[in-house]
Amino acid sequence: MSTNLSVNINKIATLRNARGENVPDVVKVAVDCERMGANGITVHPRPDERHIRRADVYDLQKVVRTEFNIEGYPAPEFMSLVTDVKPEQVTLVPDAPDALTSSAGWNVIDNYQFLADITQRLKQAGIRVSIFVDPEAGQIEAAARVGADRVELYTKPYADLFPLNPEKAVSPYVEASKIAHAVGLGVNAGHDLSLLNLEFFHARLPYLNEVSIGHALICDALYLGLAETIKRYKECLRVC
Ligand code: PXP
Repeated sequence: MSTNLSVNINKIATLRNARGENVPDVVKVAVDCERMGANGITVHPRPDERHIRRADVYDLQKVVRTEFNIEGYPAPEFMSLVTDVKPEQVTLVPDAPDALTSSAGWNVIDNYQFLADITQRLKQAGIRVSIFVDPEAGQIEAAARVGADRVELYTKPYADLFPLNPEKAVSPYVEASKIAHAVGLGVNAGHDLSLLNLEFFHARLPYLNEVSIGHALICDALYLGLAETIKRYKECLRVC
């Protein structure tokens, strides 16, 4: 099956915010990413607006023609934003407002009722719901029971172990993907995926619907340019 590449453009907003004006223009970058082959655009508006701002989300909604994926912790302000904007997909992440970046998946079992209520509200608004989880059977099965459509597997542990032992690094994700598929969930993945580790991950993982990649991709674009970078990430996802 083909796997979509969603480009996370948070870092573009970080760069823009460093100077207080509108360079680089996140809306233009999103449109350019799509033109260069991205299958989706991901943003993570945080309460402190340190990178993507609420206003960016509304501006992006007007132009994104591929899949718009908004990640975040489902606090009341986030829920009002996403139910207003109605992106194709919302990815629920458990991180605290001041977290540097997402660093673990949800404990879906402990937050069962909260996530079930949030998921129901999002689905009533016509939004696909993905829940960010570690590759653990119990959490994935709980994600299916709360009514999610997909899980996003947290891939930093894979990326960390990959250089030492690629097979051992990927094996929990292969199992997780099979379990997700068996309980009727789609499979997304993200965090620290890069040109070094993506091709192997994609080749090994059955049922991988989408990867969302930000940090490494934007860093690669400094050397390769955005068009060549997106082309190379897409090549890692080609069906053999
Ligand atoms: N998925 C989630 C839930 C994230 O929070 C992030 C980081 O914003 C990513 C994917 C992308 O991670 P990276 O920037 O390391 O590619």
